[in-house]
Amino acid sequence: MEENALIIGSETVRKHLSVQDVIETVEKTWKWYGEGRIIMPPKITTDMSSAGVDGWFNTMPCYIAPLNTAGMKIVGGFAGNHALGLPYIKASLVLISPETGLLRAVINGDWISDMRTGAQPAIMARLLAAKADIITIIGAGQQGYTSLLCMSKVLDIKEVRICDISKKAIETFISRFVDFPFKVVPFENRETACRGSDIIITATTANDTLVKDAWVDPGTLVMTMGSFRETDYDLIRNADLLAVDHPEQALHRGNFKELGESRELTIETFDIVVPYILAGKSRRGRRKGTDRICAQLVGMGCLDVAVASLLYNRILESGDEVLKADMSK
Ligand SMILES: NC(=O)c1ccc[n+]([C@@H]2O[C@H](COP(=O)([O-])OP(=O)(O)OC[C@H]3O[C@@H](n4cnc5c(N)ncnc54)[C@H](O)[C@@H]3O)[C@@H](O)[C@H]2O)c1
Repeated sequence: MEENALIIGSETVRKHLSVQDVIETVEKTWKWYGEGRIIMPPKITTDMSSAGVDGWFNTMPCYIAPLNTAGMKIVGGFAGNHALGLPYIKASLVLISPETGLLRAVINGDWISDMRTGAQPAIMARLLAAKADIITIIGAGQQGYTSLLCMSKVLDIKEVRICDISKKAIETFISRFVDFPFKVVPFENRETACRGSDIIITATTANDTLVKDAWVDPGTLVMTMGSFRETDYDLIRNADLLAVDHPEQALHRGNFKELGESRELTIETFDIVVPYILAGKSRRGRRKGTDRICAQLVGMGCLDVAVASLLYNRILESGDEVLKADMSK
């Protein structure tokens, strides 16, 4: 019996998927997760730094019942990649048949990972932001870029303030948005950039206090997306509402991790879990225009696997020739 698996490279991914496809799939998949129709064990992190390799990667398996698909994302951050002309975040995806375990596809996961990461703040902002006129983004790298790209599809933005320790990253970021209907303004000072913003996003590789409580106005939605700490503790403690995509994982990674480890934050502390809102299981969202919401989007592997499944079906339907490997040989 032939065991054909598709080997899908980056160009093929981009040919068959649009940014809008990813936004729609992320929203649907969050809803399915909230409905309990996805099995997704916690991601496992392999941190290689203690062995002298400056990098880490997560393995993120899942089964998605509404798509009858199973698979896994393998994604990591590799500190030396920029010097090699590679992105810091590198992702691969595998899809298998849930019934037989046969390998269906091995996919370059970079574009899918970057776009689904950007889709998250776009959907969360649509649900939770009081306003989206002024958006501050700290971190002008790949995830900062896809966040704004996806937000531009669903929000009516007037001004974007961009901060980064790298001037080159800021220049590249601005050059990617010249034709968009909002202005993108570079800010050296993070405090000035944050004050008066409706939405603040952090998407950096830093482990630092990039946003302080005192800089965040009433009504602001702050969304942290980096893998380490990005705000001061007071912002988390004094927020009117805390929001997450995944309560358990939010305690083990990113901005809430340290307060999770000291048990100051627990899964019960989170007021808003976006998949539960989309599933209609929780009506808790923003209560009033002045609520300051501190949110963390830690990222779920089922989002990537769902997008990969859409891609796989589109390729089969298109009849396009793609590389196949007979895994029985
Ligand atoms: N939450 C998710 O779903 C998700 C998904 C993918 C990546 N990530 C995380 O997002 C973060 C960004 O990833 P990326 O692919 O955009 O990396 P990147 O290397 O492309 O960009 C990171 C940017 O952060 C900037 N930066 C670093 N320290 C800074 C500081 N102190 N102040 C301001 N800017 C600073 C860098 O100069 C760089 O431009 C990483 O921590 C990554 O692990 C999260």
